Order: sequence, then C-alpha cells, then structure tokens
Amino acid sequence: MNTIVVVGTAWGDEGKGKITDFLASKADVVARFQGGNNAGHTVIADGKYHLFQLLPSGSVNKDVVNLLTQGMVIDVKGLLEEIDELNDPNLQLYVSNRAHVVMPYHLKIEEAIELSKGKDKLSTTKKGIGPAYSDKANRIGLRMEIFTGSNFKEELKKIIRQKNIDAEKLEIESFDFEEIYNEYKVYAERMRKYVIDTSIFLNEAIEKKKKVLFEGAQGVMLCVENGTYPYVTSSSPTAAALPLYAGIAPWLLEGAIGVVKAYMTREGAGPMPTLINDEEIVKHFHKTKVEYEPRTQTYRRPGWFDSVILNHSKRVSGISHIAVTVLDVLSGLKELKICISYNHNGKEINYIPADINEYSKVTPNYITMPGWEEDISNVTCFEELPINAQNYLRKIEELSGLEVVLFSVGPNREQTIEVKSVF
Ligand code: IMP
Repeated sequence: MNTIVVVGTAWGDEGKGKITDFLASKADVVARFQGGNNAGHTVIADGKYHLFQLLPSGSVNKDVVNLLTQGMVIDVKGLLEEIDELNDPNLQLYVSNRAHVVMPYHLKIEEAIELSKGKDKLSTTKKGIGPAYSDKANRIGLRMEIFTGSNFKEELKKIIRQKNIDAEKLEIESFDFEEIYNEYKVYAERMRKYVIDTSIFLNEAIEKKKKVLFEGAQGVMLCVENGTYPYVTSSSPTAAALPLYAGIAPWLLEGAIGVVKAYMTREGAGPMPTLINDEEIVKHFHKTKVEYEPRTQTYRRPGWFDSVILNHSKRVSGISHIAVTVLDVLSGLKELKICISYNHNGKEINYIPADINEYSKVTPNYITMPGWEEDISNVTCFEELPINAQNYLRKIEELSGLEVVLFSVGPNREQTIEVKSVF
C-alpha cells in the first residue's frame, strides 16, 4: 500500500507516534490531518526523546516531507516553539492555507466555559481546540491564508470585536487588539514560508506513487461524531474523516492501521466500562510510568482490553490492520481480562449506546486469559513472545477479525516489531 493512515482505536494515547515514526522511515510524506496541540506524540529515535504536539511524528526522519493539512487547528506560537526546539535545518514542513489558527482568545474562552460548567466540565486539554473549531463552524475563524496575508490586521480587528462581545457575556476581561496583533504579526511573518495548498501537494504526491502516511491524533472514542459525546474532542480522528480533512478523494486511501493499546486507558472525564478498580492492579499500571501524563500531571485511568470498542472503531472509522502497543506493560500480571460484550439493562449488547447516560450504565462481560511473567522488552519477533502473549494477540485478532501487523514492547524505535509489511 502506498497511502495509509494510522488512527487511534480508543481514547487516544495508544502509541500512535511510535507506530507513525516506525512507518515514517519508509514514507516520502507524513501528514497530520485533524486536531491540534491537544495531541502529544512521543517519539524516541536515536536515543533522543521528542514530544510532538503539532509536528508530524515523521519530523525526525530527514527525508520526509511533513504536512499539517486543512482539518487541523494550529497554535502557531506552539508550532514555532516546536520547530525551534527541534532545531533541524533539514526539516521539510508545509502547512495548509485552509488550516485554522488557534488564537489566545480561544484559550481564555475555553477556560471560562470549563469553569462555568462546574462538576460537568469536560476536562479538556485547555489548548483552545473546541473554541477554534467552533469559530470555524461559526465562520469567524482565522485561516492560515488570511493570517499570513495582507488582510490579517483588518480581519483580526473584526474578530476581536466579536470576541469582546463573547467576553462580556462570559464575564471575562476583554481582549486587547493591539497586544494580540503585535505579538501575532511576528508569528505570521515566520509562518508565511510554510503555507501552501496541501491538498494539491498531496494529490500530486499520490499521483506520483509516493508513499504517503497520515497520522491521526486522539482516538475514535474521542470522535465528535462517533465517540462518547459530549466527552469528546471537536474533530473526527477517524480514517473515514481523513479524505475531507486532507483534501483527497476517499478511494485514494488504501489502508488504515488502527493502533490498539494492549489495555485501555482514559485521560479526562467520561465513562470507560472496563475501568480497573483493584488498587493492586492499578498500581501495576502506574509503576511503569507509561501512563503518567506530563501535560496534565496525572495518571491515566487503566482498564481491561475492550473488543466492543475495537469493533466499533473498525466499523465507524474503517480499519484494515492493527498495531498492538505497550504489550510489555502487561508482563507480571497473573490474569488478563478481555471484554467481549456489555450488559445493558439485562441484555447482552455488542455496540456502544449513543446516549452517554446509557453507556455509563453498561457492565463488561469478560473472558480471562493467563498472563505471563517474562520481561518481553527485548523480543525481536512474534515467535520470541511467551506463548501466553502470543495467545493474547491471537485473541485480539480473533475478536476483531483484523490482522496484527505490528506490535511494540517498549518506547524505543527498535522495540516496534513488524510482523508483516503492509506499507
Ligand atoms: P480537547 O481536545 O482539548 O477539547 O479535549 C477533549 C477531550 O479529549 C478531553 O477528555 C481530553 O482529555 C481528550 N483528549 C484530547 N486530546 C487527547 C489526546 O491526545 N490523548 C488523550 N486524550 C485527549
């Protein structure tokens, strides 16, 4: 396959960055297509740790062209900081002229809205993502083309006038046009050289049979269309949404690799049916530090693997193959549970109720599999895994009808193992 997408199959933090980085070594182009710096993709390459929030995870591969397409909302200040931090003169980056800019008023407005919700707050990443996508839908957003063009000052003036009406309603301090303009005109100047029509670039690359890898952020359970609404993000992190967000025809996408964590985790608010309450087991997940989230300084809540969610993801996103990550974290657990269906009001179901209140009531039906004691962080192929780990992966395949083509046993690039090459 020449054109594939890597997507998260649950609530984000599945290890998409690592899988994208691995596949990026074979790619000509790597493109992020939705979300913004609410994402955090960790890549450890050549002994160096990188946390990319906006830059595609292909950015450490010097021969790759990196794109941020039109479906994204981009905090330009954050992006420029990431570019400076990477400090790579060979970085090849282009940003869509149709992508929207996250501005400081988006962050302030989000903070005020979250505060006003009290205990019903969504626990967002506070990066202004929701307000930026709302502005896009309300048609008062700021596109990259305008931001870096000659009308920026006039457009910003109009927008700030509108935002100050919002500020009054929210009872927050008004926004100072001069202050924002003076800061952001400097960023606009720096951004100009990156801005192109990424749809045209992508279509030409695909036409020339270049290898194009799309990198999703978050996961399908955070999808504004198919996730646990309202505890979701404001875009659709699915393969289904990619053509629209990237400006390509749907039939040009040849495959979708769903990144599946070997267990579930959830950051932020909202239900997770397979949440683990046993303190000893929760401690097991936390002691590895994998589930510590530096952005929010909290531990993600762990849960048992949920095949209802994977099948939901397969159906609504479209997934052709899977990559299973953090298998090593399960080492040392005596027994592993896998959710195969839910109980809902006395009935067995294998779908996700659309009403969040109903979803909060479901209880999981589990099968139990034997765990393994061995440290698996050095295995180099499927056959080297303990038989119980092999069976665990086989069970995920059986329950989803999807083939495991990659699995990972640690954070480093060498710890991602390709079972079958599909890209
Ligand atoms: P927002 O995307 O900042 O609006 O946050 C909405 C919800 O999505 C919150 O529950 C966040 O915790 C969650 N979220 C957004 N991005 C990520 C991510 O990259 N990983 C995990 N959760 C995320």
